Amino acid sequence: MIKKVRKAVFPVAGLGSRFLPATKAQPKEMLPIVDKPLIHYAVEEAVAAGITEMIFITGRNKRAIEDHFDTAYELEAELEAAGKKVLLDIVRNVIPKTVNCIFIRQSAPLGLGHAVLCARPVIGDEPFAVLLADDFMDAAPGHPAVMAQMTNVYAQEGMSLLAVQEVPRSETKQYGIVSATPYKQDLEKVDAIVEKPKPEEAPSTLAVVGRYILNNRIFQYLETIGQGAGGEIQLTDGIAALMQAESVLAYRYAGQRYDCGSKLGYLKATVAMGMKHPETGAAFTEYLKGLAQEAHFLSQKTGK
Ligand code: UTP
Repeated sequence: MIKKVRKAVFPVAGLGSRFLPATKAQPKEMLPIVDKPLIHYAVEEAVAAGITEMIFITGRNKRAIEDHFDTAYELEAELEAAGKKVLLDIVRNVIPKTVNCIFIRQSAPLGLGHAVLCARPVIGDEPFAVLLADDFMDAAPGHPAVMAQMTNVYAQEGMSLLAVQEVPRSETKQYGIVSATPYKQDLEKVDAIVEKPKPEEAPSTLAVVGRYILNNRIFQYLETIGQGAGGEIQLTDGIAALMQAESVLAYRYAGQRYDCGSKLGYLKATVAMGMKHPETGAAFTEYLKGLAQEAHFLSQKTGK
């Protein structure tokens, strides 16, 4: 019988060096998109997929993440005394009461594969999700959250599942790249996976992004693979080893991904969500229209 995905791993122990100095003293996963930190969106996505156990793999400078999902007594007392009911509800309901948060410390940033391996003691013999919060996922209209799309597929197939998207060939060096054979609608069977290949060596332009569902057999491989690209223990290498024992699927999710580990991706996500936000949406969209008109006017004037 196919087991339900009840647990999610959030590796948040990386250094976030592409976002310095913002990440000098705070985790990059706490950077907000409009008014919510990236990690909060990722947890909401897991909750929407019916996941109840959230396992955070943390490191130095990550205390703010634990605090964000914990009770904030002083803040609550002050908001209550000031009669700020709406804000009090927001602070109190960051996650549903039925959800448990577990924090495990990764002693050194030895790589994403090592971070996932740190979750082994609490995963047991179940399948589990992995969500990289800096990959911000906005599901396509009319579709469930991306992780919910994936747990639905897993419930049917019972095979490890990687979220994939096409990327420009010039960018293959930033991703795990798969070669795959069509299987069913939106699904392919992975034939090979390679971490950060050079454009001329990449087997395809189908890139793995930060959403996975993995069978727990992955752990036995993560334990033995050793260092890979960049001297880190790579999740990609663990998946390549897992594929020797069982099939792995690639899933073309319905939605838009923003790489919020990069400045440009983060700015794009902020604009997209700012336009959708109930408080800022209308005014912000008007503002952008004004900017677009100004740019159009200028380009006509200067011929550029
Ligand atoms: P990244 O490759 O984005 O690394 O990691 P990073 O350190 O966070 O950011 P940069 O490249 O220095 O700017 C992908 C994901 O894996 C986690 C990160 O937190 C991020 O969510 N990770 C990476 C760990 O938890 N531990 C590690 O040892 C490495």
